[in-house]
This record gives sequence, structure tokens and C-alpha cells, in this order.
Amino acid sequence: MIVTTEKLFEAAYGKYAIGAYNINNLEQAMGLFRGAIDSKAPFIIQISKGARSYTHKKMLEGLITSANQVFPDAIFAVHLDHGDEESCYDCINSGFYSSVMIDASHEAFDKNIEITRRVVDAAHAKGLVVEAELGQLGGVEEHVAVDEANAKLTDPRQAREFVERSGCDSLAVAIGTSHGAFKFSGTQGLHFEVLSEIQQVLPGFPLVMHGSSSVPQDEVARINNAGGKLLGAKGVDDTQFKKAATLGVTKINIDTDGRLVWTRVHREYFRDNPDQFDLRPVGKIFMSEYGKFIAAKNEKLGSAGHLDDVRKLVA
Ligand code: G3H
Ligand code: 13P
Ligand code: ZN
Repeated sequence: MIVTTEKLFEAAYGKYAIGAYNINNLEQAMGLFRGAIDSKAPFIIQISKGARSYTHKKMLEGLITSANQVFPDAIFAVHLDHGDEESCYDCINSGFYSSVMIDASHEAFDKNIEITRRVVDAAHAKGLVVEAELGQLGGVEEHVAVDEANAKLTDPRQAREFVERSGCDSLAVAIGTSHGAFKFSGTQGLHFEVLSEIQQVLPGFPLVMHGSSSVPQDEVARINNAGGKLLGAKGVDDTQFKKAATLGVTKINIDTDGRLVWTRVHREYFRDNPDQFDLRPVGKIFMSEYGKFIAAKNEKLGSAGHLDDVRKLVA
């Protein structure tokens, strides 16, 4: 069942975070739905601009529509990740998405509000909800590249004004994470003091953490042992997700970790089976491993086991 993120956030606020997983293809879709059902968790499917154009935007919509039939117990939202205005309007008008993210975080404060407000008005008119971003994460987002030194944490003093003037329904905050597999060096980590200040000015308002892959070291080691070269990869400590949830984070975005599962499975498979050239045996292993990864992540997020409460809320 496709629902809005608003409903999921209402159920989760202050207690746990909903996993928001980026998908690009059939195998990820199958693994995601299986893992979510196995862990009895509500979830968010995120589709980036890059994912929409990887094959054709309609292909992913078709996949998700089919998955919704194959897994009738699943409860999830379909969300545009890091949209610009054009892609937001395209998704709002598609009739398929339940929420969009407008990412104008690279713009000056007033301009970010102005752009976000336009998208909010268009989305609300069609019953969709909007995630906006204030502050800048390090790493690469599709239309924005920010180096670590220029990443800007969200200023809690601006957060309330931003939400009031833009009318957004949830806010992505920059509290020290970044996109990709190389998030931290040395002792860097999450800035809970900033998150706590944001929650104080926006009590009850759903916050979002991007760049939250944990880049498991055993996964990185297996990739490197099978011919990879991911040196110095490091991610977010996923034992901190539940603390973030108590401070108002209701959505936690994970993409890179899923890509690592894909890379590990395929590298190991072809290293160990150099005579193979059939895509299905390795695809089956990936779907199974991705499903296990999703289920384990939902345990860390605290969303595992909450499917039935959410079902009652949306019924
Ligand atoms: O934040 C970006 C997400 O990881 C999506 O990545 O734009 O390469 O699909 P992508
Ligand atoms: P990761 O690169 O940490 O998986 O972050 C994904 C993300 O924020 C998608 O919007
Ligand atoms: Zn992101």
C-alpha cells in the first residue's frame, strides 16, 4: 500500500526512524520489499533523478506498482530524492509519487525558501508532501558537489523561520553526515548538539538525515579482498540511529550501503566463478543478500516490527 510519508512520520516520531532506501532496478526492488516484509517494517522508496533516467522513469513506476501487488502487506511511501524544481513538478504531476524532496540547499537562505515554497504550493494542491533541506552536506548530490570544508551544518536559529516561510512538511538537516562511502576522517561524527537545538525550535516536526550509510568495514574488506579498492571508506555509526530518532529524526536515507552489498556480491561471485556469465545466479544471491541487509538495517532504525501499528493508523 502506498501512503504519504506524513502518515509514516506520525507513527514514528520520537520513537524510531523510517528507512528511506534508493532503488534503481528490479533486483533492488525485490530485495527491498522482501527485507521490509521479513522485518515487518514500513519504509520509503527513494528515487533519485539519476535513477529516473537510468532506464526510463516509467520503468521504476511499473516495477513499484508490480511490487505493490506481489507484496500486498507492504506499506511504503514513494519519494523523489534530491529533486530540483523541474523534477519535482514532473513527479507531482505524475500522480505516482507520494512525496518529493526539493533540494535548494545550495541556494542562499531566502532563495531556498522561495523555491521550496513554490514546490510546496504545487505539491499540496495535489495531496503530496514536501521534504526540503537547510544546510549543506559534504559529498556529491546530483546537481551539487560540496567539498567537506564547504559543507555547512544547519543553523538551528534559521530552522524555524525556514519551515514557517517555506511551508515544507519535513526538513533534511546537515549535522555532519555526507553522501557516499567516504564520510569521516579521524574522530568526526554526528553533531547531536545541533540536532537537539533544531528539535527544540521545531518540536514535533519530522527531521531527515541524509548521508546515513554506515559503510560496514567487513563489507569494505570483502570488496577489497575481491579486487576492489575502497581505501579509507567510513560511515555513520548505526547504533546512533535510535538516539537520532528520539531527537526528531523520522527518516534516515541509505543508498551507499546497498551499493556496497551489490559490489561485494558481484565481485565475490565472479572471482569465485570465473567461468560464469549468467546474470541470474548472481542476481538471486544479490536479492537475497539485499533483503537481509534491509531487514538488519530496519532493526537498527527501530522500524522493524512496526508494520501492524502503521497499518492500523492508515486503515
Ligand atoms: O544522495 C544521493 C543518492 O545517493 C542518490 O544517488 O544520484 O547517484 O542516484 P544517485
Ligand atoms: P548515503 O550515501 O550515505 O547512502 O546517503 C544516501 C542519501 O542521502 C540519499 O539521499
Ligand atoms: Zn541525500
